[in-house]
Amino acid sequence: MGGPVEKLNPRKPSAITQKRHGETDGRWGKEVEISEITLDEVRRDAVSFGLATEVEYQMNAGKEASIFRAQWKGHPIILKVYRLWQTAQAVKKKGFFAPGKMQVLAAKEYDLLMACFKAGMSVPTPIGRVGTMLSMRYIGNDRPAPQLRNVHLEDPELVLYQILDQYLLMYATVHYVHGDLSAYNILWWENRPWIIDVPQAYEAGPWCEMDQVVSLLRRDIGNVLSYFKRYGIKRDPDEIVDVFLSEYVPENMRNYDEQVSVLPRGVTLE
Ligand SMILES: Nc1ncnc2c1ncn2[C@@H]1O[C@H](COP(=O)(O)OP(=O)(O)O)[C@@H](O)[C@H]1O
Ligand SMILES: [Mg+2]
Repeated sequence: MGGPVEKLNPRKPSAITQKRHGETDGRWGKEVEISEITLDEVRRDAVSFGLATEVEYQMNAGKEASIFRAQWKGHPIILKVYRLWQTAQAVKKKGFFAPGKMQVLAAKEYDLLMACFKAGMSVPTPIGRVGTMLSMRYIGNDRPAPQLRNVHLEDPELVLYQILDQYLLMYATVHYVHGDLSAYNILWWENRPWIIDVPQAYEAGPWCEMDQVVSLLRRDIGNVLSYFKRYGIKRDPDEIVDVFLSEYVPENMRNYDEQVSVLPRGVTLE
């Protein structure tokens, strides 16, 4: 390593900067502008936007967003902040594309959480969204709810069905596939699973690519099933996908439905 950034700025790059470095094809310096957000900046923005009355500490830093524990008048809440990350090159070509994209993700996450909540799913209730920040219910008490991958379940079979029921509600009622469902994005709290982290969901609506819907469904369900292997539970993901498709297919995709249900597995129309 050792690029222009380190010469200009002798501080050791933070872990997250190093992580991002791996995602910029090894380019450092002028081409890569990284905007880190400090706790103070988040606190100032979130409070002035009216999303929180206090921001306590950062809980988690993902690829595109950071999670903060915050408060609304004494009640714990979660603040999810999409960060700007752009190359100088991209800025020249696309103007404010990168910040715009982050706002779109925050808005999508907020809207979809709201739709899932209204459909009766166990998701963190969304509270507000301004720009690249959204606030939602904090799942946990003095400790945040654990991710499913870190939990040992007493009745895994029941939980598998709870998760599939929740996901079916999302697919058949809200008409979205999650797109990143796994034991990382399911929290375990109050004896039931909570689905989180929805901004990359794909709409199963009249304009969708049905192949895309099916492959995301299969991947999500496969991820969930792979967590349950540790309990000796084995299910055929394709059978579960078929159940989903038998519950809902967009009106104008009925052809697709017929193809799927009429033809034997593995046989496709030319
Ligand atoms: N509403 C919430 N309540 C409690 N913990 C949360 C909440 N939302 C997120 N977290 C914690 O933060 C982690 C990252 O959040 P997530 O929305 O999955 O963002 P990322 O895009 O970084 O994966 C989650 O796996 C979970 O541990
Ligand atoms: Mg996540």
